[in-house]
Amino acid sequence: MNISKDLVETLQGFISKNGTQESIHPFFKSDDFTLYNGDSLEIMSRLPDNCIDMIFADPPYMLSNDGFSCQNGKMVSVNKGKWDKSKGFEDDLLFHEAWLKQCHRILKPEGTLWVSGTYHSIYQCGYLIQKLGYHILNDIVWFKPNAAPNLSCRFFTASHETLIWARKDKKAKHIFNYEAMKNGKFPEDPMKKNETQMRSVWSIPTPSPSEKEFGKHPTQKPLALLKRIVAASTNEEAIILDPFNGGGTTGIASKILGKRQYIGIDMNKEYLELTQKKYEHLNNKIELFTV
Ligand SMILES: C[S@@+](CC[C@H](N)C(=O)[O-])C[C@H]1O[C@@H](n2cnc3c(N)ncnc32)[C@H](O)[C@@H]1O
Repeated sequence: MNISKDLVETLQGFISKNGTQESIHPFFKSDDFTLYNGDSLEIMSRLPDNCIDMIFADPPYMLSNDGFSCQNGKMVSVNKGKWDKSKGFEDDLLFHEAWLKQCHRILKPEGTLWVSGTYHSIYQCGYLIQKLGYHILNDIVWFKPNAAPNLSCRFFTASHETLIWARKDKKAKHIFNYEAMKNGKFPEDPMKKNETQMRSVWSIPTPSPSEKEFGKHPTQKPLALLKRIVAASTNEEAIILDPFNGGGTTGIASKILGKRQYIGIDMNKEYLELTQKKYEHLNNKIELFTV
């Protein structure tokens, strides 16, 4: 059964509360990859309960507030886009609560959620994850060995992000591919020693220029980070959702690992165009090698 095809049909045949037919059509669709352009709250609200195996969410960090950072020795604005502006503490909290609630509803009972963030957002998300009844499995520190220096020299250089991994239901058996984490190869990470348990601090550089060959997303995650997350917490046939698709790193990682179905949502078309380019390039490469 092509499960994501059923979900696509659900969205196309959606009947609103007042009885009118309202269709949502994918921006892009292939056998294993579907992209939607729109507000993820709206699109997720139309998905049925208990239909997704794993969600990776990299929500706006709400840190585009006219500050400065350093990039390649130059002073640059920290502003990423309108979508990353804080609307104030209470409104940001309401936004995070709304999408986290939808994620909880659409996850399968044994499904898991990953949320990434810095202190600007991760404590709010962590509080809400507990409030909404998820069960936290781990918090991961993603250490960036090549983080940009601090310009003000008045506090420590920010060089990590936090990822919260939680399951929907404390009683359900979630997926954790222990052996793949212990014995897999992670050449990018000097902290991971061969054949030892995977720990909760991961050293992974920010995306390399080759990961930006089709264009840039201002907050793109490294592929190695998402490959590790998808490999750890999903099996073949999993349906994986990213409600803040961005440049599609989660989808590309899912495609590289294979036999998984990906659904990505983003309100900005340009990021979906970038994702589609990356997907098509990868798909052509895979087809070339499997002929
Ligand atoms: C932090 S970025 C995600 C980056 C992504 N993980 C990557 O590796 O490229 C967040 C993304 O969420 C999108 N976004 C923000 N609010 C949204 C909303 N309400 N619905 C859909 N997309 C949204 C933004 O356009 C942005 O691309």
